[in-house]
Amino acid sequence: MAYKVVVLAGDGVGPEVVREGIKVLHAVEEAYGIDFDLVPYPCGGKHYLETGEEWPEVAFESCRTSDAILLGAIGYPGANLPDGNLAGAGVVFGLRFGLDLYANVRPTKLYPGVKHKIHDGLKEVWDPGKVNFVIVRENTEGIYSPIRGILKRGGVEEMAIDNRVTTRKGAERVIRFAFELSHRREGAPLDGRKRVTCVDKSNVLDGCRLFRRVYDEVAEEYPDVDRDYAYIDAFTQWMMRGPEAYDVAVMSNLFGDIATDLAAVLQGGMGLATSGNIGDHHAMFEPIHGSAPKYEGQDKANPMGAVLAVQMMLEWLGEKKGDGSLLGASAAVEAAVRSVLKGGKRLTYDLGGKAKCSQVGDALADAVKRAVASPG
Ligand code: IPM
Ligand code: MG
Repeated sequence: MAYKVVVLAGDGVGPEVVREGIKVLHAVEEAYGIDFDLVPYPCGGKHYLETGEEWPEVAFESCRTSDAILLGAIGYPGANLPDGNLAGAGVVFGLRFGLDLYANVRPTKLYPGVKHKIHDGLKEVWDPGKVNFVIVRENTEGIYSPIRGILKRGGVEEMAIDNRVTTRKGAERVIRFAFELSHRREGAPLDGRKRVTCVDKSNVLDGCRLFRRVYDEVAEEYPDVDRDYAYIDAFTQWMMRGPEAYDVAVMSNLFGDIATDLAAVLQGGMGLATSGNIGDHHAMFEPIHGSAPKYEGQDKANPMGAVLAVQMMLEWLGEKKGDGSLLGASAAVEAAVRSVLKGGKRLTYDLGGKAKCSQVGDALADAVKRAVASPG
């Protein structure tokens, strides 16, 4: 039986990095005898400009009946909906909200040999063991709720409102997800302690006070996981100054959006940053870097974020289906990323190398096949 994977390559460099992700998936098929039924749909801002729709109408239903979804990036210069929204965002939000993908899981991991990206970071290698935490971003409410509008357009009394929604159900399920994740992990690099950090702004916002109260309730069920609290403003600097203290951090939608771009600096930049949008029944996986239109068509973008999205997809699917070969394949893909990074010869420009996107994809696919040919 084949696993159905809907592929939404999208805009800008999306199709290029997704192509390399698929290359690695084909290597997995060959090496592990797993079949994927890949179902592609066009989508995004450019598609909107050409057709007047963000994605074909059938695509959502196809995603709903898929085993997993892989997305490249959306966003194209000048492509906006009549209401001003980014054309293509309807795909991302259509899936996050429509399939109830409430946990946006964003690992921040510094692999050996990779230089962090803090000012002049290309000169410096850190102890990779220091950066290994996961931000779990609430993905279906917060200030991303569609309860917003413009009351008055133009003039000195111009006014716009974005409502920030926090529900007990929304908080509880994402916080529980974070504790379950910590429970399965090895703990923070600093002390090996399992820890979930509740990141909020409960010194000011009511929604955050509710979030923190629910956090305390859920924490009671996980005596093996340390409690930890941080206000989002302080968290951003602590995360940069002492990332080794963190294991899992859970936070509301916009805080997580901002914190994860910043966190990517600790792991060598956006080129390596990946994410899984995960619900109880469905999941969509995407690199975090976005469509980067200025690099479109140059075979230049780092495909590792997309390949790591494939790796997360294999792991999630493997656990969901109880399929050990998918889990083995996931480990092999991560090992391939590690070995190509460590080798240092096949790196894209953002990591100080000269390789093209497709060459990195070739190297990763080869490494996956080699790993199976000579296990261990
Ligand atoms: C992200 C992105 C999206 C978001 C954009 C593209 C709508 O920044 O996935 O982090 O804000 O969630
Ligand atoms: Mg973002």
